[in-house]
Amino acid sequence: MSDRDIKKATRHVNQNEALIFERSSPGKKGYRLAPLDVPEVDYKKSLGDQARADLGNMPEVSEMEIIRHFTRISTWNYAIDLGMYPLGSCTMKYNARVNETVVRLRGLADAHPYQPERISQGALRIMKTLADCLLDITGMDAITLQPAAGAHGEMTGILLIHACLKSKGNPRKKILIPDSAHGTNPATAAICGYAVENLKSNSHGMVDISALAQQMNEDVAGLMLTNPNTLGIFEQEIDKIAEILHQKGGLLYMDGANMNALVGKARPGDFNVDVMHLNLHKTFSTPHGGGGPGSGPVACKKALEPFLPQPLIVENADGTLGFDYNRPQSVGRVRMFFGNFGMHVRALAYIMANGYDGLRQTTEDAVLNANYIRKKLEEEYELPYKSPSMHEVVLSDRIQAQKGVKTGDIAKRLIDYGFHPYTVSFPLVVPGALMIEPTESESLEELQLFIDAMKSIAREAEEDPEFVKNAPHSTRVSRLDETAAARKPVLRWKPQASSAEQG
Ligand SMILES: Cc1ncc(COP(=O)(O)O)c(C=O)c1O
Repeated sequence: MSDRDIKKATRHVNQNEALIFERSSPGKKGYRLAPLDVPEVDYKKSLGDQARADLGNMPEVSEMEIIRHFTRISTWNYAIDLGMYPLGSCTMKYNARVNETVVRLRGLADAHPYQPERISQGALRIMKTLADCLLDITGMDAITLQPAAGAHGEMTGILLIHACLKSKGNPRKKILIPDSAHGTNPATAAICGYAVENLKSNSHGMVDISALAQQMNEDVAGLMLTNPNTLGIFEQEIDKIAEILHQKGGLLYMDGANMNALVGKARPGDFNVDVMHLNLHKTFSTPHGGGGPGSGPVACKKALEPFLPQPLIVENADGTLGFDYNRPQSVGRVRMFFGNFGMHVRALAYIMANGYDGLRQTTEDAVLNANYIRKKLEEEYELPYKSPSMHEVVLSDRIQAQKGVKTGDIAKRLIDYGFHPYTVSFPLVVPGALMIEPTESESLEELQLFIDAMKSIAREAEEDPEFVKNAPHSTRVSRLDETAAARKPVLRWKPQASSAEQG
């Protein structure tokens, strides 16, 4: 008997969940409307050609059926609320409930961006306080909260560099990007019209200073540096890097998405970064992923301030807050209204709940957790770069690959042990990379479970490589053909009868 023949869920409520279309039966409804108390309108007449003739095959189910259906499939998701989410570079930390309580306060949740400034003083004060806290944390001079994600922040930052250099007569042509940078960095430089020039890392996994000195010239607008970089390594010669750029009139952009390793310990403004972005949805614990809104504020030094997106929040002479739209050199708006306000509220709640000491402790715990994992796994898995790890550790599958087991196989097997996989095959400078970022959220017990799972998989890879290569074994859907899923995605459900047409 196959799963499909089981009429009621047995092993687990979600094991044989049908599609909502398969649950449909004609005439069922999940709603009942109140009797009409206005004249009926023939929408087809008013919409004319634009009226849709056929609504297609819509599922017809009761309210309870649809609630159960979606509640069941919601349990198939993995979430930080279920367990450790060691997805390197993504800082999947726990989003404390207090942030959610604060953001749901009616005065904040119901605020509308078109409200006059006069009656938005509370919301403006939240944004101003957050901006001030972020300036304090980064050591920068000015900030915009508008960008809606890290990559959006990068674009805003590079536009600032472009506008600043252009105002001096030459926006220049190239941006240098180390091979250990996050993938969004070269994409950003290219989308802003710059040619991308690759900068090789040295054997310690850091920027090769002599290569930088050779490549830096008057054609180069700046360097985009992820710091700590995607190997989880802090660029120890950051002051020299800034000096080399500045001497030739270039600017230093720091991808600050990995600030979870630095908050309360080191300030990019103090090591001469000119412009940077932060990922509130990583470092400052706002929810993350699943298509939800992010927030990527951009902070800069005084020289770049005139070019920041408008409007900026300003304090009026009478102590009230308002927006300054009169910024003739601004690169313009990069996001409607004032950015993702709900994320600003959550990030400020996180900062205030932690305070100075708490934020510093968070950084220390994040780094300690990554190093604990590194120490416990460095015998079973190769550690390609021995430089000190910050918030994440990058291992490689070199030992397991001798038996044909690759990083992707180990990651799939990790699902069987109840963990979300780490980041697979990134950064590209490490062949077969396993990029692990536990964050400060995890307890010693959870870290230990993860380490035990990884050790156990290393043993399995040695003794029964085929078993690991066919993982996962415990999930609802077994190993997918990822190439086919990427190249021939089937994104629409069609009734059986016409499935042949799906192609
Ligand atoms: C180092 C780094 N830079 C940039 C980004 C891009 O951020 P976003 O996904 O919000 O665009 C990420 C994303 O995780 C990142 O890890």
